[in-house]
Formats: sequence, structure tokens, C-alpha cells
Amino acid sequence: MLALGVVILLSYLVGSIPSSIWVGRLVKGVDIRNHGSGNAGATNTFRLLGWRPGVSVLAIDFFKGFVSSLWISQLAYFIGTGPVSLFPFWDVDPFLRIVCGVVAVLGHMFPLYSGFDGGKGMATAAGMLCGIEPVSVAITFGVFLIVMLSSRYVSLASLVAAFIYPLMLVMLRYGFGWAIDGSILIFGAIVGLGIIVKHRGNIRRLLRGTENQVSSFRPAVG
Ligand code: G3P
Repeated sequence: MLALGVVILLSYLVGSIPSSIWVGRLVKGVDIRNHGSGNAGATNTFRLLGWRPGVSVLAIDFFKGFVSSLWISQLAYFIGTGPVSLFPFWDVDPFLRIVCGVVAVLGHMFPLYSGFDGGKGMATAAGMLCGIEPVSVAITFGVFLIVMLSSRYVSLASLVAAFIYPLMLVMLRYGFGWAIDGSILIFGAIVGLGIIVKHRGNIRRLLRGTENQVSSFRPAVG
């Protein structure tokens, strides 16, 4: 129980790291939440500050999820009795990995260090799910790219990815007989739903035709 509490707390603290807010302050002295879409995430960082800060935020946000599900989850074994492995895809309880990953995504959405006002969770969710079931994430990323490049809306691509990811898991498990744990199916769907709910402002803008499109890598904040 102590081990579970420690890994949940650590995952939340790691997920809470508000990379886009800190990078915005560091690079241009701005609070990214007051500009562009107002979202504390990689897309808004690309939009406002350009590709270098954008890639940095994307990488940090991705790794917050990846590290939590793949490695922080293992600390429970370290605190207990079990072995620790660098690539624990199959030997750590999937439920434990997904709990740590989901907590990291919640940390990203509601970060402790910035007034619980965080991002929409896409990059952290992708990282977390990569640490659990990377193949379905790779397929979903392909769909994300196709939607983003054809529509030029990152938000639409995120919404489609969040919607199809759980369906992909169901297809892989029941259609192709992959050994996908039931907890991944359930929590994958919950994370997808959480991301869709976080995009409600984007959905409104998409319906009104006022959503921001990807136009160039030129930073909007000079
Ligand atoms: O992952 C966030 C993206 O889907 C939308 O970001 O800044 O356009 O609200 P933004």
C-alpha cells in the first residue's frame, strides 16, 4: 500500500511539471496561458514560440507519461520485493503501469505547480500509452498525422486520435487476439474521454469555423 501511494504521488508530481509554462517564461518571459489558444501545451508553444521550444515541450510532456508508466511504476516493486527492469513491457503488472500513467496525465491536466491549470493531455497520454502498448499508439499516431496534415487542425487530429484509440485496442484484442489487458482497455477509454472533454473549447471553435489552423512554424510571440 505504501509502495502504491509512493508511485502514485511521484507520477502526479512528474505529470505536474508545467513544461510549456516554464519554457514560455524562460524563452520569452510570457505566460503561454495568456496567448494563442490559452492552452498550456505543446501545440500552443509551437504556435507562439516556434518549433524549438515546441519540440522541447512536446518531448518533456511525452516523457512525463512514458517515465511514469514504464519506470516510476516499477518503484513499487523496488520498495517491495520484485525485480526492476529497463524494459518492463511484460513483467510489471499492466494495471500498475496504467495507474501511474493515468495519474501523470491527470498531473499534466491539473498541475500542482501552476494552480491546477494545465494542458489537454495528448502528449503525456501518448507517452504513457507508449510505455504500455506502443504498437497501438504508433498506429493512432499515423491517423493523427493524416488528419492533421489534411485538415491543418491539430485539435481535430487530437480528437480523432482520442476517439479511435480505444476502438483500436478493442480491435487488436478481439479482432486479432492480441494479449491486451482489460485495464488498458478501460483506462485507455477513460483517458480518451478526458482528452475529448478537455478539447470542448476547440470543439466549439471547430463548429463555428474559428479554430486555429497550423499555418507555419513562425512564432506568433516575437
Ligand atoms: O493537444 C492539444 C491540441 O489538440 C490543441 O491545442 O492549443 O490548439 O488548443 P490548442
